[in-house]
Amino acid sequence: MKLLVTGGAGFIGSNFVHHVLREHPEDEVVVFDLLTYAGNLENLREAEGNPRFRFVKGDIADPEAVKPLVAECDAVVHFAAESHVDRSIMEPSAFVRTNVLGTQVLLDAAREHGRRFHHVSTDEVFGALGPDDVPFSETTPYDPRSPYSASKAGSDHLVRAYFHTFGLPVTITNCSNNYGPYHFPEKLIPLAITNLLEGKKVPVYGDGKQVRDWLHVEDHCRAVDLVLRRGRIGETYCVGGNGERENIEIVRTLLSHVGRDEGAIEYVKDRPGHDRRYAIDFSKIRTELGWEPSVTLEEGLRDTVEWFRTHEDWWKSVKSGAYREYYGRQYGK
Ligand code: NAD
Ligand code: DAU
Repeated sequence: MKLLVTGGAGFIGSNFVHHVLREHPEDEVVVFDLLTYAGNLENLREAEGNPRFRFVKGDIADPEAVKPLVAECDAVVHFAAESHVDRSIMEPSAFVRTNVLGTQVLLDAAREHGRRFHHVSTDEVFGALGPDDVPFSETTPYDPRSPYSASKAGSDHLVRAYFHTFGLPVTITNCSNNYGPYHFPEKLIPLAITNLLEGKKVPVYGDGKQVRDWLHVEDHCRAVDLVLRRGRIGETYCVGGNGERENIEIVRTLLSHVGRDEGAIEYVKDRPGHDRRYAIDFSKIRTELGWEPSVTLEEGLRDTVEWFRTHEDWWKSVKSGAYREYYGRQYGK
């Protein structure tokens, strides 16, 4: 199979590219990515020179760039997005353009050429849970609360609309919080690890008792791969990690891995509209496709700290330039 992987130079997309090239020796991969601040060719260095891999720079919202690539591939695996909630609060328009319009442009190209389409989405489309609520599942009504999650909800609705209206062969995965190699250090875990390694403090929003359900990125990549190949057309699959933790617990675990104490925590102003809790019931993908997480949060966090320790050049280069401006604006530093 020849796959068009949008957003393949980002965090999860690049992990997915390495996963496919390793696990499917017969497959070819074309990455299509705009290389925004979050896209980085260094993430794809391992694939360079592989005859089954090619990189094309471009914008998913540009129909002329997208059409020939969709035409030459058998399936589109759609990761490209503006992905950070805090940036969506600063600048919502980029989120609507890429996540909604960009997805529609890709869907049109897939429709024109009759291609299989897998859409990578998020559990944030379901809103926020209270402490005693049952976890999100495929039947949970949509209730997005940030510009990011609203734009992802819009894209999910478009994908389903192209299935019902035009018969496009689509699937969707809605996944919880990922972590692992190549995670951009604007997100909690890589920001905390790299700040701690630099001797800085970790900014914790509000009381730090918000809950996320953490999943190692490799487990997410396996789930996307399975749904792409064996998922039922027109269906949605929720993907989660059995990894519910308060943010402050995650930060304390990271402190212990790098040998810092509680003095390295800095409580800062809360995120506006901050969703209190996410959790996922992944029974459907487990029952239908036999998927479940394989990396425990304890081993995954330990390995991730080790990855950042041994990839200092990668994150130091990412944390320079425009990143500093973003950090200053977000954290007032
Ligand atoms: P990321 O921000 O690390 O990467 C996004 C990639 O998309 C970058 O390489 C960027 O250059 C590219 N991109 C952005 N706009 C583009 C455009 N207009 N045209 C082409 N390429 C463009 O994001 P990520 O964390 O890897 O997330 C990937 C996908 O997975 C997103 O759709 C996100 O909503 C979804 N998701 C993420 C998580 C998570 O925890 N990170 C969890 C569930 C779902
Ligand atoms: O749930 C899936 C989503 O997970 C994905 O769709 C998004 O693309 C991804 O960014 C992630 O969103 P979150 O907002 O949950 O991730 P983030 O790492 O930004 O924040 C995790 C939690 O940590 C959240 O409760 C906010 C908090 N936080 C975050 C940062 C960056 C802090 O306390 N301090 C921080 O500096």
